Amino acid sequence: MVKAAAVILAAGEGKRMKSKEPKVLHEVLFKPMIDWVTDAVKVAGIDEICVVAGYAHRKLETHLKASCSIAIQTERLGTGHAVLQAKDFLLKTEPEDVVILCGDAPFIDGEIIDAAYEKHIAENNAVTVITANAKNPFGYGRIVRKDGNVTSIVEEKDASVDEKKITEINSGAYWFKTSSLLVALAELKNDNAQGEYYFTDTVEIISEKGYNSGSFMLEDFGMIAGANDRKQLAALNTYARQIKLDCLYECGVTITDESGVTVGPDVTVGSDTTILPGTILKGKTKIGSFCVIGPNSLIDNCEIANYVVFNASQAYSAKIADYVTVGPFSHLRPNTDLHEKVHVGNFVEIKNSVIGEGTKVSHLTYVGDSDVGKKVNFGCGCVTTNYDGVKKHRTKVGDNAFIGCNTNLVAPVEVGESAYTAAGSTITKNVPPHALAVARSRQENIEGWVTRKQSKND
Ligand code: UD1
Ligand code: CA
Repeated sequence: MVKAAAVILAAGEGKRMKSKEPKVLHEVLFKPMIDWVTDAVKVAGIDEICVVAGYAHRKLETHLKASCSIAIQTERLGTGHAVLQAKDFLLKTEPEDVVILCGDAPFIDGEIIDAAYEKHIAENNAVTVITANAKNPFGYGRIVRKDGNVTSIVEEKDASVDEKKITEINSGAYWFKTSSLLVALAELKNDNAQGEYYFTDTVEIISEKGYNSGSFMLEDFGMIAGANDRKQLAALNTYARQIKLDCLYECGVTITDESGVTVGPDVTVGSDTTILPGTILKGKTKIGSFCVIGPNSLIDNCEIANYVVFNASQAYSAKIADYVTVGPFSHLRPNTDLHEKVHVGNFVEIKNSVIGEGTKVSHLTYVGDSDVGKKVNFGCGCVTTNYDGVKKHRTKVGDNAFIGCNTNLVAPVEVGESAYTAAGSTITKNVPPHALAVARSRQENIEGWVTRKQSKND
């Protein structure tokens, strides 16, 4: 038996998003809202997670893969009906307590979930509602209290004039004793203004039975914000972006000008690194210290060490060692592994290749599916022709080799250590170490050809 589990509500269509995607797949700082919530649950140490999916649920299932259990809500009959779909999950996993969360409110973090759980246990509550004080509570469920205890939650559309004045609102996140939750779910009715099974009514049911119903109040209302439309989604992005940038300043990162600098929540940057304008850092990117990143760069899921200069370029799932310089205007595609002091210059594309220490690929070159040694020099305009239309083949270049300008290396092919290829060569056979390969037609000079041509035209 697990002690705690989580149920995340994510079946809503999010009509106001005007999207074919499930609402919870919309991104805040390039990370789908549902992933913020599942990550927070995992940080709180909860492994048993059930996501209630509905609208476009196949897309959500594909996204979540096998990381969570999924319950399907075929009709949207309200939040209470949505939680009911997780009943089988709860009976199977038998958690003592369960946290219920909304998939469209991404900022509830692991610490809040944890702290609310501690209070829930300490007070022996059957339900603990996570609440906050709102300057403008419009649209939220209001927390109704008697003698300090939470006795019910009233939705905006059902609230009396007096209840509408209550500023303490329901975040949509709660801890329950699973046994109390299952009893209350069975008693839910839909006799309210919206004809829905309100999950919030479980609080009144539990309170009326005489069980403890408490609350965990958040200081920062921003932590519970959700998005119902694109404008609110943009507001979530603005809020999260500033928090992340402030966090980077705290870590000793210099951002000379915040314009166009957006950094995903799972990105880390070391101290004394400078980020220049127009830089987007996404995914699980890790950047070390003393780097200069940007301007106008995009880095997704990369590992970048220290003292790296990355100028006006893009990199995806690449690994970059100390003292590497990249750019301007280069493209590092997945599985690029640049060893120390590599220089990648302008208009260079590298894919699925290891580039050895101190190698220079300075201009207008494509290196794909290659194993390149140390201190190799690629001249301008070289191409590894890795694809024969059916299969990809590898190119090997030994240490200290010199690849002349405009060389085509037709893979599979190997250039030995310290070998040279002559400029303009198309290399189809292996080049032995220390050899010079020339693979181009010899130049022929035809003396007086121009003069003869001109005299014909006269
Ligand atoms: C809900 C709460 C309200 C709270 C607010 C916080 C109820 C009745 N009200 O209101 O007290 O202040 O959240 O944001 O619960 N969903 C389903 N299936 C459904 C309906 C909803 O999965 O049939 C999901 C939605 O996808 C969403 C979540 O439940 O993730 C909340 O639903 P929503 O309709 O946004 O509830 P609110 O009206 O905002
Ligand atoms: Ca909502």
